[in-house]
Amino acid sequence: MDHFVYRGGTLHAEDVPVADIAATVGTPFYLYSRATLERHYGLFEEALAGTDHLICYAVKANSNLAVLKVLGDLGAGMDVVSAGEYLRAKAAGVPGERIVFSGVGKTREEMRIALSGGVRQFNVESEPELLALSEVAAGLGRTAQIAIRVNPDVDAKTHEKIATGKKENKFGIPIDRARAIYAEAAALPAIEVVGIDVHIGSQLTELEPFRQAYLKVRDLTWALRQDGHRIGRLDLGGGLGIPYTRANEAPPLPLDYGAMVKQVLGDLGCEIEIEPGRLIAGNAGLLVSGVIYVKSGEGRDFLILDAAMNDLIRPAMYGAHHDIVPVTEPEPGAPQHVYDIVGPVCETGDTFARGRPMPPVAAGDLVAFRSAGAYGAVMASEYNTRPLVPEVLVSGDHFAVIRPRPTFDDILARDTIPPWL
Ligand code: LLP
Repeated sequence: MDHFVYRGGTLHAEDVPVADIAATVGTPFYLYSRATLERHYGLFEEALAGTDHLICYAVKANSNLAVLKVLGDLGAGMDVVSAGEYLRAKAAGVPGERIVFSGVGKTREEMRIALSGGVRQFNVESEPELLALSEVAAGLGRTAQIAIRVNPDVDAKTHEKIATGKKENKFGIPIDRARAIYAEAAALPAIEVVGIDVHIGSQLTELEPFRQAYLKVRDLTWALRQDGHRIGRLDLGGGLGIPYTRANEAPPLPLDYGAMVKQVLGDLGCEIEIEPGRLIAGNAGLLVSGVIYVKSGEGRDFLILDAAMNDLIRPAMYGAHHDIVPVTEPEPGAPQHVYDIVGPVCETGDTFARGRPMPPVAAGDLVAFRSAGAYGAVMASEYNTRPLVPEVLVSGDHFAVIRPRPTFDDILARDTIPPWL
C-alpha cells in the first residue's frame, strides 16, 4: 500500500495533487511520500517485534538527506557502502553507533572517516580488507567492531546483475573458509569480532533462498562459538522484493520474512540487523514526467517523454518493468492504447516500455512511473547534459523540493577549460 492515489479525478501524493507540484517544479521530477516511507519502515519494526534488532536502511536505495532524516528520526540505523553515504547518514542526524559500513572495496581513507566519526560495525568482505582495517584502526588508536560477510553459495533467484550470494559472485568470503578467517581476525590488533553478515541479493520474491542462507548462518554461529568467538549480532542483509506490477505479483510480506527469521535464528540470542532498501523506498516514490510528443511510427505509436534513461536507468539496465500511469484519472472503462514509451536520449536503449497498453494520453499530459523511489534518483546521471532530476518530498498537505534541479549554468560551471587550451 502506498499514498499515491487518484482523488477527484487526479493523482495525489498524500493530500497534494501531483499536477500542482509539476506546475511549481516542472518535469521530470522524483516525488516521495513521507507517510509511505514511515509505513514501510513500520512493517519491518512490526515483523521483528519481540527480538533485539536494528533496521539499517540501505542508503544506496535512496540517499536524499530528507529521506534519511525521515527514517533516522524513527530510530532506523543505516547501512552505508561508501564514505559519501556515511557522511550523508551523519548529516541526516543518524549517530555513528547506528551506522553499519558494508561494501566489497572500502578504502583506507573510507575506514579512517568512519572510525573517526563513529561507526557501529564494518562488514568485512575479504582478508586483505581485514588486514587494512586492523592497521587503520590501530593507527587511530581505535578498535573496529566487525562482522565478516560470508558467501553462502545460495541462488537468490533474482536478476543476474543483482544476485550476490553464489560462490562465483565477488561478495563476501566463502562460507567454508569462515572459521579460518574468523580465527585470523580474532588474532589481529584493533579488531573485535561481533557477528556474522550475509546478503544474497536484491528483489528476491521468495523466502526460501533467504531461509537456506540463514540456516547456514545458524550452523556457522554455533561453530564459531565453539571456536571461542563471541557472536552476538547477525546482519541478515536486505533484498526483500516489492511488487512492480500491481496485477500479478505477491512477494513475501515483511511479516512472513520476520516470522521465518525468528523461526530459524530466534533461539541464538543474537541481535538481528537487517538492511532493507527497496522495500522501504521503492513504492514510496514516483517519477513524474511530461509527454513531449506522441509520434506515429511504422505500426506503432511512440510516447516521447521528458524523462529518459539517464533519470531512471532500471528499464535499460535490467529490463525492469515500471507501471506508468496518467496523472489525470482515466474514465472507468476508458479504451486502452498501445504505446512504445521512450525518452529523448539518442539511443534505442532509452526505452521504458514496448507495446504497453495504457489509457490514451496527449502531448502536454503528465504521467507517473510507479515504484521509482528506490534505485531511481540515486542512479541518475547527466548523460546528454540533461540536468539531474530534482526530488520532492510530500508530507500530508505540503511538499518541499529536497534537491533542486541544477541550472545549465551550474552544470557548465563544473567543467574547466585549462588555460593552455
Ligand atoms: N545490503 C547490501 C550489502 C546490499 O548490497 C544491498 C543492495 C542492500 C543491502 C539492499 O538491498 P534491497 O533491500 O534494496 O534489495 N540497482 C539495483 C539494485 C542493486 C542492489 C544492490 N545491493 C536495482 O535497481 O534493482
